[in-house]
Amino acid sequence: MSSGLQTAFYIISAVLFILALGGLSHPETARRGNLYGIVGMALALIATIFGEQVHGGGYAWLAVAMIIGSGIGGYLALKVQMTEMPELVAILHSFVGMAAVLVGYAGYFGPSADSGGHALSGAAVTIHEIEIYLGVLIGAVTFTGSVVAFGKLKGIITSKPVLLPGRHWLNLGLGVVCVFLATGFVGGEHSTGAIAALIVMTIIAFAFGVHMVMAIGGADMPVVVSMLNSYSGWAAAATGFMLNNDLLIVTGALVGSSGAILSYIMCRAMNRKFLAVIAGGFGTAGGTAAAGDGEQQEYAPATSPEEVAELLDSSKQVIIVPGYGMAVAQAQHTINEITRKLRAKDINVRFAIHPVAGRMPGHMNVLLAEAKVPYDIVLEMDEINEDFPETDAVLVIGANDIVNPSALDDPNSPIAGMPVLEVWKAGTVVVMKRGKGTGYAGVDNPLFFRDNTRMLYGDAKASADAILSNLG
Ligand code: TAP
Repeated sequence: MSSGLQTAFYIISAVLFILALGGLSHPETARRGNLYGIVGMALALIATIFGEQVHGGGYAWLAVAMIIGSGIGGYLALKVQMTEMPELVAILHSFVGMAAVLVGYAGYFGPSADSGGHALSGAAVTIHEIEIYLGVLIGAVTFTGSVVAFGKLKGIITSKPVLLPGRHWLNLGLGVVCVFLATGFVGGEHSTGAIAALIVMTIIAFAFGVHMVMAIGGADMPVVVSMLNSYSGWAAAATGFMLNNDLLIVTGALVGSSGAILSYIMCRAMNRKFLAVIAGGFGTAGGTAAAGDGEQQEYAPATSPEEVAELLDSSKQVIIVPGYGMAVAQAQHTINEITRKLRAKDINVRFAIHPVAGRMPGHMNVLLAEAKVPYDIVLEMDEINEDFPETDAVLVIGANDIVNPSALDDPNSPIAGMPVLEVWKAGTVVVMKRGKGTGYAGVDNPLFFRDNTRMLYGDAKASADAILSNLG
């Protein structure tokens, strides 16, 4: 394929990626967006594989790599549970980071040439070395940061922030050393000193990635996942510069900037400053939020599916608050059935979605869309939070942190300041959960001790099935 045709393919792919991002911004257009992305990526692969840079034996290597890669990818895509998606996304980010590191090393030790195959000289060599240095740096931080995020999301590594004494100074020191090493690397002409500078910087960047994410507490993990998403984009863009691949630069920049915007939206939703997130320590597990603020120290009384069905039947306004437990129990289809039955009786049923409900951005929207809940009754926190006082009954399904009043009432709470759904202002709140487990942030929840709360214990799917069968 000529380079002109390849560029044309790349431009079409880039446009398709932009359309994909546009489509993915709303559940109704998400499928179309996904399709644009698939077609764009297929065109990008075809143009790269049949481009002028690949010849002869290269095809055999590519075939082996693609068979192994698509085999593993296909297997994981079929096997992964919806609740495991964030871990999968985190580990995929780590691959992008590692790829940037490996491409950087290969680019440094291999022959350096421009896209026409001519050897680099003068300023072009310096620019190439800066690209390599930055690419390896961002890639290495992304790699270890994402591996630690994977461990935290999977529960292999504690979600408590691990805070080293003087950690800000340590980070600053590591940054200064990396800048110093850059002066030894760029223009070092492959001397032992330059190679040592590259290796030492890589080790520091690996350590920095671990340190940065270890310091982050459970409640900030959503921001960290989207931040690493952004880093992986910049790592891909750096790889694009190293490989002289324009499409990779454009795609990396799209991922990098959309991840950065998502991090900003997440920070705003959680009332957090981005720098404070990076500094770590929020949502310390094992916090001691006062149970019930001294109002009532006993757990709210347990209720039964029959009573909940009666309560719903006699209500005019109902709000359903889904959380991570609904995803675990896969209760969304039954919840949709309950919603249909109630709406058929002229009861106004709406869903309240917290921006960090579940374990990934848009987690609840995806599940409700899958269960075919109408989009117009699924409302964001800002759109519905003021309606709780006029609501007769709230069903909290496997949600915990996102309905925790101590975030607003208790300045000493580990999640103080995080906006939450103010469900306790409704007439009656039914909390569906299996037992007395805490949420992801590991913080006690005074909602479970309030007078107007009723606890419906059990797996959310089983409880929802029982409520459905009791609805008249
Ligand atoms: P959580 O606070 O994690 O609470 C989920 C609750 O569901 C638990 O208290 C658990 O209690 C219950 N549960 C688990 N399995 C269940 C089942 N099969 N049936 C019924 N209940 C079940 O969830 P949330 O309120 O959605 O809050 C999300 C949390 O995750 C926030 O802290 C957020 O910061 C964090 N986080 C979010 C993201 C994104 S991007 N959304 C990413 C990473 C972390 P029992 O054990 O007693 O059943």
